[in-house]
Amino acid sequence: MKRICCIGAGYVGGPTMAVIARHWPEYRVEVVDIDPKRIAAWNSDHLPIYEPGLDELVKSVRGRNLFFYDDVEAHIDPADIIFVSVNTPTKAFGHGAGRAADLQYWERTARQIARVATTPKIVVEKSTLPVRTAEAMESILRQNPRGVHFEVVSNPEFLAEGTAIRDLEQPDRVLIGGHDTPSGRAAVQEIVEIYARWVPREKIIVTGLWSSELAKLTANAFLAQRISSINSISAVCELTEANVTEVARAVGMDHRIGPHFLCAGVGFGGSCFRKDILNLAYLAETLGLHEVARYWQQVVEINDFQRRRFVQTMLKAMYGTLAGRRIAVFGFAFKPDTSDTRDSPAVEICRLLHEERAHLAITDPRALPSARKDLEGLPDCSFEEDPYDAARGAHAIALLTRWPEYRELDYERIYLSMEKPPFIFDGWNLLDHARLARIGFHVYRVGAPPVAPTEDRAAGLKD
Ligand code: NAD
Ligand code: UGA
Repeated sequence: MKRICCIGAGYVGGPTMAVIARHWPEYRVEVVDIDPKRIAAWNSDHLPIYEPGLDELVKSVRGRNLFFYDDVEAHIDPADIIFVSVNTPTKAFGHGAGRAADLQYWERTARQIARVATTPKIVVEKSTLPVRTAEAMESILRQNPRGVHFEVVSNPEFLAEGTAIRDLEQPDRVLIGGHDTPSGRAAVQEIVEIYARWVPREKIIVTGLWSSELAKLTANAFLAQRISSINSISAVCELTEANVTEVARAVGMDHRIGPHFLCAGVGFGGSCFRKDILNLAYLAETLGLHEVARYWQQVVEINDFQRRRFVQTMLKAMYGTLAGRRIAVFGFAFKPDTSDTRDSPAVEICRLLHEERAHLAITDPRALPSARKDLEGLPDCSFEEDPYDAARGAHAIALLTRWPEYRELDYERIYLSMEKPPFIFDGWNLLDHARLARIGFHVYRVGAPPVAPTEDRAAGLKD
């Protein structure tokens, strides 16, 4: 029986290995992590992450051929293939702080493999890493005391949170990079065969190692760049009475451009876009490519601008002061269908609102536990399971995550429970704005003119 070990039981390691285990019942797949709480959660009925379809999948394979352990070292040597899926956050200290990738987790893993492995292994880079990291990985692995041969392969992950299982089951492509040597080609082929069981072969791309590493950073940079592009246009729309949804539709119908990732909002969030672009910009900088670095840096700057702009719009609309105003925050996750709040626009926007001395009532269908941690110590902040409770007595609603359930709420009931005049700042242009205006809300949109309440409600005649 072949054994796969995945180091790092996070958003990528857990779901990816569960899908491999489903398709390879004859393989034993072990996922290990230094965080015992995370492993305990993977072994419980309350998985550490929320992903549609993940619970059922894990239940169907856990204990059969998928296992989670916190004693990392014990599971390295018995494995034939080791996936490294540890986190690679932005470095917070020293040289390259705030830009470069923090490679300490990845580096520790490489040393650990070198120290304990006694038989040859394929080591797969699943984490997103700077280009040419495999070279450093190989140099660490070569230092192993027993002269064991390791073949390093790059297999970056393209799943998006909220659709992880679908993305893993039906990926647009699987990318596998390796050395063009006999052992490199054999290792790549072995990884190709794993995916070929459920992914059509024409979707499995084989490239050189460096192209594979760089393609992952580039894919994220391109996706984020589209979002910043449309968000920059949203600012122009707000000053010219153009409508960004109409502009995006017209632009996206050009088949060379396409309709995806053109949704204007409060900016991109998540654990990867910002970190990967900063990493790419830093890489360009270290290569002496200052123009390239500045080009990508600007994508992040527009994103920060968009978050700030949203708060400035609120401030301006609400008569120049938010001090003591109760703001109901609808949505805290960085996108719908996840409990993840890493780099969520809501974190920054709540901080900015707090600086204005607003009182915040935060609600989210999945992310309240993370929200509590993110805003720990912030006074004048409450957390409500029920959006109606969050809105009660509020002066404004700020919709910060595109959860579809927020469309379905009874806004008549919400209107009656709020302070007057009530404002809605729809950060994702999700709601029915004409209807909200008829109910009596002052509606502010991203990339479109505000919609004023119809006159009778505005004058208090219908209450
Ligand atoms: P994560 O933080 O959810 O999980 C990483 C896990 O690695 C953590 O549980 C941590 O405890 C563990 N870990 C760290 N050092 C370890 C060590 N030495 N030994 C054992 N375990 C260790 O991160 P993630 O979101 O799964 O991302 C992992 C990588 O995949 C990153 O490089 C990320 O850029 C990339 N990626 C993430 C996504 C995503 O949607 N989250 C998608 C594609 C790629
Ligand atoms: C993203 C990529 O889509 C994945 O391919 C990649 O594997 C992953 O990053 C990664 O490397 O971590 P993810 O961040 O999970 O996935 O989610 P996305 O759907 O890409 O959304 C990212 C952010 O962009 C969200 O905050 C979302 O609200 C925002 N977004 C998305 C927009 O502002 N506008 C859009 O049109 C689309």
